Amino acid sequence: MPRKPAPRHALVVHMTKDLNLAPPVRPPARCLSPPTPAGRYLPPDGLSIRTMDCSDEGLQRDVEAWLSIQNQAFRDRPRPWKRADFQRELHERNWFRPQHLWLAETPELAAPVGTIALELVSCTPALSNEPLGGRIHWLAVDPRFQRRGIGRTLVLRLEQECWERGAEQITLETLRSWTSVTGFYRSLGYQENHVISADP
Ligand SMILES: CC(C)(COP(=O)(O)OP(=O)(O)OC[C@H]1O[C@@H](n2cnc3c(N)ncnc32)[C@H](O)[C@@H]1OP(=O)(O)O)[C@@H](O)C(=O)NCCC(=O)NCCS
Repeated sequence: MPRKPAPRHALVVHMTKDLNLAPPVRPPARCLSPPTPAGRYLPPDGLSIRTMDCSDEGLQRDVEAWLSIQNQAFRDRPRPWKRADFQRELHERNWFRPQHLWLAETPELAAPVGTIALELVSCTPALSNEPLGGRIHWLAVDPRFQRRGIGRTLVLRLEQECWERGAEQITLETLRSWTSVTGFYRSLGYQENHVISADP
């Protein structure tokens, strides 16, 4: 979950989806040729999903786009996120890497309009290095493009990524007071498990 400052006494809710009970939607055969990631989900017209470009120039552009989407979607942050904040996340979190940061692009705009990130975790780290669970972070859609199915497509793309890597469960944390966000996840089959903390 993006680190939007939580109001005092905010309740953080943990949500889960068991991918065994609801395996990611498989694409109809006609969408498999040629197999484009976005085509697998029948996303909104022309929408494509990709990870960040790892070339020097591409990465610069994608980080700017990522910051812009985050700052627009989380406008009530006390201050906008800057490149240094992104660099700090890179430094502090071993999963926060361009290859785990996904972007949604629409032909309507020359820049990406949505972000999401995937952290793969092992449920039994002492026994195995196999990733068995996925965690969603940093989901955000440019407010001008919300309610067009972009957020849903990003989450479904991540679910398929988890499934293909052997992860059977996907989790996330959000604030219970963000009812539009919990409603969004519920509409995709996520269930609220428990409240994690009562005090920030
Ligand atoms: C949450 C968010 C990513 C959803 O993205 P989106 O592209 O607008 O969502 P979608 O269009 O794919 O919505 C899919 C379904 O989720 C539900 N939904 C989405 N936004 C909703 C809202 N504000 N209120 C209630 N239900 C909502 C609806 O059922 C919707 O389907 P419908 O439009 O056919 O009714 C977006 O609102 C956002 O960026 N919010 C700010 C950042 C944020 O809070 N991120 C989550 C942090 S944990």
